[in-house]
Amino acid sequence: MNAFFAALLLADPTIQLLQQLADAHGPSGFEEPVRRIMVERMKPASDRLKYDGLGSVIAEQGDSGPRVMVDAHMDELGGVIRRVTPEGWLTMQMLGGWLDQALFDQRWIILGSKGPVHAITGIRDIHIVPQDERTKAYPREMVFLDVGAKDPAEVAALGIAPGDPVAPDAPFMVLNGSQNYLGKAWDDRIGCAVLVLAMERLQKARHPNHLFWVATVQEEIGLRGAHTASELVRPEVGIAIEGGVTRDAPGTHPEEAQELLGHGPAMFLYDSSQLPNRKLVALVREVAQSQRIPLQTDLVQGYGDDSAEMQKAGGGAPTINIVVPVRFTHSHNGIVNRQDFDHTVDLVVALLQRLDAKTVESLRAF
Ligand code: CO
Repeated sequence: MNAFFAALLLADPTIQLLQQLADAHGPSGFEEPVRRIMVERMKPASDRLKYDGLGSVIAEQGDSGPRVMVDAHMDELGGVIRRVTPEGWLTMQMLGGWLDQALFDQRWIILGSKGPVHAITGIRDIHIVPQDERTKAYPREMVFLDVGAKDPAEVAALGIAPGDPVAPDAPFMVLNGSQNYLGKAWDDRIGCAVLVLAMERLQKARHPNHLFWVATVQEEIGLRGAHTASELVRPEVGIAIEGGVTRDAPGTHPEEAQELLGHGPAMFLYDSSQLPNRKLVALVREVAQSQRIPLQTDLVQGYGDDSAEMQKAGGGAPTINIVVPVRFTHSHNGIVNRQDFDHTVDLVVALLQRLDAKTVESLRAF
């Protein structure tokens, strides 16, 4: 790819938004850098904007019609500094569902009191690993961070203390000029980007609802922001927008996940935290068909999402989890597809335009 083509790509405002969101460092409980980006876009597109007591953003459009909540979470996987050793190493409490093997030999950013600090997790050197241990994965208890300091005083001088957040360091990239974008935190910054663009479109287009656009905190450690935000919103219908799980990498089994990258948005028919409302599933299918948007389905066992909390708030609500397929979630290097993203925005906008009082009443009639 030549420099001119690269510059053209980066001038695309959608790529700019995706890059901004993916590169922001916001592990669970430390979402401020992401919240800043979200509020900057959500505030001008909404009639009212407030926060729940945990820091989730709740932006409203309209004040009559069914209360529809559209949700994406701002937090990403990360960690917090636990301890500084006498030799200047740092240990880490992980935040969110990490595979132990994803933790070693990576670059990280520690968000200390004096600004970002670069760190790496070391890996055991092959030259000293016994033959019979060379194929085995090491446990997270062996993870440490190296910031180039030789003692606790040098660590302190960098502005780092126990409790400081740690995020993956893996900058956004358009993958070799393709429609696939590489980055960290697509779960769920891709959902945040869908939320922003769908919201901006519906500011100008007509819709029959009282919309609550919610960017939640602390999803990865137990759907905490979705719980508190849903209590305030009391949605009549809830739509979570998430990063999905693809099964196209070698070695992945179709019983584990069914989505493919580049084959369009998907809706979850099952995950370990919620079951979607069947009439809402049918409606999403119908809307996708009428808009000629390709639609996939997925059933994943080890996966929870914010719709589980919307589903249980205020006496209960029909919910659905709509996802942009992501290759390699919960790691430093994930991949999303641009067409999947654009189609998801189209699908969410069309769905919200269909959810009038009569339709919502029929979804809630049993
Ligand atoms: Co997620």
